[in-house]
Amino acid sequence: MKIAIIYHSETGNTEKVAKLVAKGAEKVEGVNTKCMTIDDVDTGFVEEAKVVFFGTPTYAGTYSWQMKKWLDTCKLKLAGKVGCVFATENYLGGGADNAELALLSQLLVKGMFVYSVGGSKGQPYTHFGAVCIKDGTAEQKERVELFAERVADSVNKLFK
Ligand SMILES: Cc1cc2nc3c(=O)[nH]c(=O)nc-3n(C[C@H](O)[C@H](O)[C@H](O)COP(=O)(O)O)c2cc1C
Repeated sequence: MKIAIIYHSETGNTEKVAKLVAKGAEKVEGVNTKCMTIDDVDTGFVEEAKVVFFGTPTYAGTYSWQMKKWLDTCKLKLAGKVGCVFATENYLGGGADNAELALLSQLLVKGMFVYSVGGSKGQPYTHFGAVCIKDGTAEQKERVELFAERVADSVNKLFK
C-alpha cells in the first residue's frame, strides 16, 4: 500500500516531521511511503496512494499560504483517498490545531476521507493530526510515528 506525504517547509521543521511520518507508517508491513515537497510532487505515486498525509507549518494560526495555493491549484485526483494532516508551530498554543482543522476542511472539499485516529486506539489520542513544536520534542516525535503507524494499520485493514 502506497502512502504519499506531501509537505510545505521553509526552514526544515515540517520536513523533519514528514520523515517521521514515513518512518512510522513503514512500520506496517507492506507499506511504501514517499515524502515530497509541494514543489516536487510525484503525481504518479500520489495517484496510486491510498493515503495522503499533508504537512504544514503554522502561519498566523492557520496553515501556510503556500500549502493553500498548492491545494487550490492542484489538479490531482485526491477524492476517495484517505487524508491526514500534521503541523508544526513555534509555540504551544501557536495555532497548529487550527491549521490542521483548516487543512482538513480543504481535504473534505476535495472529497477525501479525512482521518485523525482520534481516541479510537487509546492513549495517546490524536485529536486532528500530529503536532510538533518546531521539529518536535522526543515525546512529540514518538507521537508522530505512532500516529502514522496507526493510520497505516487502520487503512491497510480497511482496504484488505
Ligand atoms: C509567516 C510566518 C508565520 C508564523 N506564524 C506562526 C504562528 O502563528 N504560530 C506559531 O506557533 N508559529 C508560527 N510561525 C513559526 C512556524 O510555524 C514554525 O517555525 C514552523 O515549524 C516552520 O516550519 P518549517 O521549518 O517547516 O518551515 C510562523 C512562521 C512564519 C514564517
